[in-house]
Amino acid sequence: MRVDIISIFPEYFAPLDVSLIGKARSRGILDIRLHQLRDWTHDVHRTVDDTPYGGGPGMVMKPEPWAEAIDAVIASAETEGAMPRLVVPTPSGRPFTQKVALEYAREPWLLFAPARYEGIDARVVEEYRERLRADEVSIGDYVLAGGEAAVLVIVEAVARLLPGVLGNACSVADDSFAPGAMENLLEGPVYTKPPVWRGHEVPPILLSGHHAAIARWRRDQALRRTVERRPDLAARLDPDTLDRRDREVLEEAWRAVRGERAGEEEEPPAGEERPDVA
Ligand code: ADE
Repeated sequence: MRVDIISIFPEYFAPLDVSLIGKARSRGILDIRLHQLRDWTHDVHRTVDDTPYGGGPGMVMKPEPWAEAIDAVIASAETEGAMPRLVVPTPSGRPFTQKVALEYAREPWLLFAPARYEGIDARVVEEYRERLRADEVSIGDYVLAGGEAAVLVIVEAVARLLPGVLGNACSVADDSFAPGAMENLLEGPVYTKPPVWRGHEVPPILLSGHHAAIARWRRDQALRRTVERRPDLAARLDPDTLDRRDREVLEEAWRAVRGERAGEEEEPPAGEERPDVA
């Protein structure tokens, strides 16, 4: 897969030389090319931003350097007519999920346009929406100082899905959120040696060598954890993917969560008085 990144901070992407991604690059699975946006400015100050139309705080990234940079990347296509998929990280984008990561992993060429300041003039995405299937994505409901950290997150999530990047291809199918058996499920806890550490024991089932029972235990843990930590995801579990035991575990987990909530409402935490309500 080819990945181009245009940014005013290309040095921000040094972590892409390290670990899994670094290895994928040196093995030729991933071809990452960094570009300095300011190389496509034409003034002495190499200006990339200007004041927002309509007023308001902050600055907006000018459309001209972005378009010149994007056009230069398109022109560098190695196969005639090939076009990258344009990804613009922004807190106002559609959520970046495991499903989107899998979608991007099928693309041969991605082009990232991370913004600083208040964002990029909206006409840039409009200009390339059709031609580059431009996609505005958010990595979560919080605001970063710029899109660079989001690009690192997205590239890592996508690259580990590429064939040959992970040592054990099976681990991708077992990931939290992976389509199939793990769709809308969080992975449960994991353990390694020693069997007892600081008085904490590894659940004995994991030492039993009974593979079917271990698989069942892991699924129970995943179901319970998802109800406790992500009830929004648990509510979206497809009933057709659940067996009888799944349904029992889920029912019990929902009851426990509801019980705790009801308990919290009845008894305020120690030392805290419920305020008098007139
Ligand atoms: N840029 C700033 N905040 C972001 C977020 N949450 N996701 C993607 N890009 C961003």
